[in-house]
Amino acid sequence: MNDYDTAARWIAESRKAAAFTGAGISVESGIPTFRGPEGLWSRYDPQVLDLGYFYEHPRESWEVIREIFYDYMGAKARPNAAHKLLAELERRGKLQGVITQNIDNLHQEAGSRYVVEFHGTAQTLLCTECGDRTPFTEHDLDTLPPLCKKCGGLLKPDFIFFGEGIPPQAYQASMALAETADLLLVIGTTGEVMPASMIPYEARQARVIEINVQPSAYTEHRTDLFLQAKATEAAKELAERLGVELQ
Ligand code: APR
Repeated sequence: MNDYDTAARWIAESRKAAAFTGAGISVESGIPTFRGPEGLWSRYDPQVLDLGYFYEHPRESWEVIREIFYDYMGAKARPNAAHKLLAELERRGKLQGVITQNIDNLHQEAGSRYVVEFHGTAQTLLCTECGDRTPFTEHDLDTLPPLCKKCGGLLKPDFIFFGEGIPPQAYQASMALAETADLLLVIGTTGEVMPASMIPYEARQARVIEINVQPSAYTEHRTDLFLQAKATEAAKELAERLGVELQ
């Protein structure tokens, strides 16, 4: 039985909470996870996100990238109750910010203002030649691979591929948030991908409330209070106890 009363009390008592989210928080917005039975990596070869493969086969890689990351973009994916709860806790000065592994921009669309995108974002395309960044909506993704309008260089999504480093400012901002947090909400992540997966361990002063439909790499070793539930279910239970209206 999930102890939502204690979880809500910990949130109410917290003065410097932070959140660390993964693909699971966006499942009920219609975005598939990477791992697990329905996961993307059971349908697509993760090599499309291997930097070497991308440079050697830009069109083939972009065809899959478009299908995975851009076909659901735009109208379809919308923030859900879990994204909205985090945005409301920030508005109340309870949550300092969200560190997300996701690239779907749903925290920002839910109203979160301080969002650290540990793996970058699918919202902008980056020119691999001149470094120019432009919104993906400015490019016609029916013609692949998209090329830079400034220099003609190959464009790639502005999220990190396997083998790429974490954006330094995202890394520093995440550590700063984690190190000072007194409560960390870990939502919808397997905790299997380094270095993102270290964040709950960097939050040395924080009590950890984890929300996941099943145990993760954290549940036994780092989690202080495990809520086994879908992110939106747990969000609604917590919102009710905290007097938060999730519009
Ligand atoms: N509510 C909460 N959690 C859920 C839900 C749900 N409705 N559905 C699934 N989950 C959980 C799964 O149990 C799993 O623990 O979400 C997690 C999804 O795990 P992954 O697909 O591995 O996602 P994530 O942990 O974010 O992956 C990390 O891996 O491929 C890379 O860069 C990619 O950012 C990604 C990173």
